[in-house]
Amino acid sequence: MSRMCSRTEESTPFKLWGGRYSKATDHVLSRVNNSLSVDKRLFSEDLDGSIAYAKSLTDANLLTQSEFKVIRYGLETVRDEWTKGTIKLMPRDEDVHTVNERRLIEIVGPHIGGKLHTGRSRNEQVVVDMKLWMRNAVQDILKQLRCLIDGINAMAERHINVLMPGYTHMQKAQPVRFSHWLLSYAFYFKEDYQRIFEFTKRMNVLPLGTGALAGNPFNINRHQLADDLGFKGVTSNSMYTVSDRDFVVEFNFLCTLIGVHMSRLAEDLILYSTKEYNFLELSEEYTTGSSLMPQKRNPDSLELIRGISGSVFGQHCGLLMTLKGLPSTYNKDLQCDKSGMFAVYDQSLLSLTLMTGVITTMRIDEERCLSALSYDMLATDVAYYLVRKGIPFREAHHISGEVVAYSEGVKIPINKLTLEDLREVSPIFDETVSELWNYENSVEQYTVVGGTSKISVQEQIKLLKEFLSSCE
Ligand code: ARG
Repeated sequence: MSRMCSRTEESTPFKLWGGRYSKATDHVLSRVNNSLSVDKRLFSEDLDGSIAYAKSLTDANLLTQSEFKVIRYGLETVRDEWTKGTIKLMPRDEDVHTVNERRLIEIVGPHIGGKLHTGRSRNEQVVVDMKLWMRNAVQDILKQLRCLIDGINAMAERHINVLMPGYTHMQKAQPVRFSHWLLSYAFYFKEDYQRIFEFTKRMNVLPLGTGALAGNPFNINRHQLADDLGFKGVTSNSMYTVSDRDFVVEFNFLCTLIGVHMSRLAEDLILYSTKEYNFLELSEEYTTGSSLMPQKRNPDSLELIRGISGSVFGQHCGLLMTLKGLPSTYNKDLQCDKSGMFAVYDQSLLSLTLMTGVITTMRIDEERCLSALSYDMLATDVAYYLVRKGIPFREAHHISGEVVAYSEGVKIPINKLTLEDLREVSPIFDETVSELWNYENSVEQYTVVGGTSKISVQEQIKLLKEFLSSCE
């Protein structure tokens, strides 16, 4: 029989739950079931949760004060071993919870160590660990979002005078300030920030004290436990609590949305840094060369950001698929939640950091931005000119369209048409029409809140600065 087909059993049959078992677990199931390589990342949160739980057992008179101290010492010793990398992992350790409890029992003995898990289940333990971990994780994401918004804002402020084409349907539409375009992304990221901020409040509810599914029978004080672990409340139904992974779904979604925004920004930047556009140049630090074509400078950083956003989205979908159709309470499928959650966090953080680097080091080519403008982009301004002379907008739009067609027909740029030419189309035109052919004038008419005039863009920059300082 080949190795693949053999049914070897584990050499160490004893486990935390081994009491009713006479046979060892199949070695393939053991491998699939083992989540330690992923969830060992939660070792510290798991120990925090255990220390707090031991305290609540003490308050409920299930542990004496001195037993509590022994357990806390034991758990801190385990933390030390993890931190120093001296912890010895055994084949029978299924997950991080198992390792921590096994080591505790080895250090302080089964008489006291064996009391820690009284009334507790790994089903709730894993949720509290993940929530504790996530509380810190979102802070890292928030911090990096602030850096990115700050980087965008500084760049926008520095280049406030640069004009460039604004696009719709990838077609040149109307002149805008470069800063106006760039800041549009800062506002996406600000929304991302605020959404995550709301989420941190919503998810900060204690799951511990719910047992395997039915609750805790030992009269522990969940509110005190919540206080001790920094949660703002307690969950209200134990069956809901042990199978709830909505907080992971929400975290994944929030990162996915950040990824979508980053991917769109990356796409714009890739395009604008091509030789065809040349509006900006990415710093060498964020590009790579080609092994074959010496002239190339590839925007790998941005392509990776765009690519990563796809795989983060994939993780988000993956967990939703795992949850869909699960029967109520804990099922082992739920163990598949963590690898995605960690990947979403790691990749989002890397991506945000990379994007901040790209943005703050890129060089803007003001001349190229300006020279990409063309006077036909002022056709809307022609319509507005007529509106200001009392023509209803629909009619003004039509007349302007005729002017464009006329200019194309005679092959003379729109700004070079004489007053007589324009009057051929409509007698409303007078000599003031010449003021239209000025890009600066064009953008400066958008003084509305959120517009592209200098004053409106400065207002946006101010708003973002105030936002950033309110976050500190
Ligand atoms: N390692 C498990 C997980 O991540 C912990 C919960 C195990 N619960 C159980 N009933 N086997 O989901």
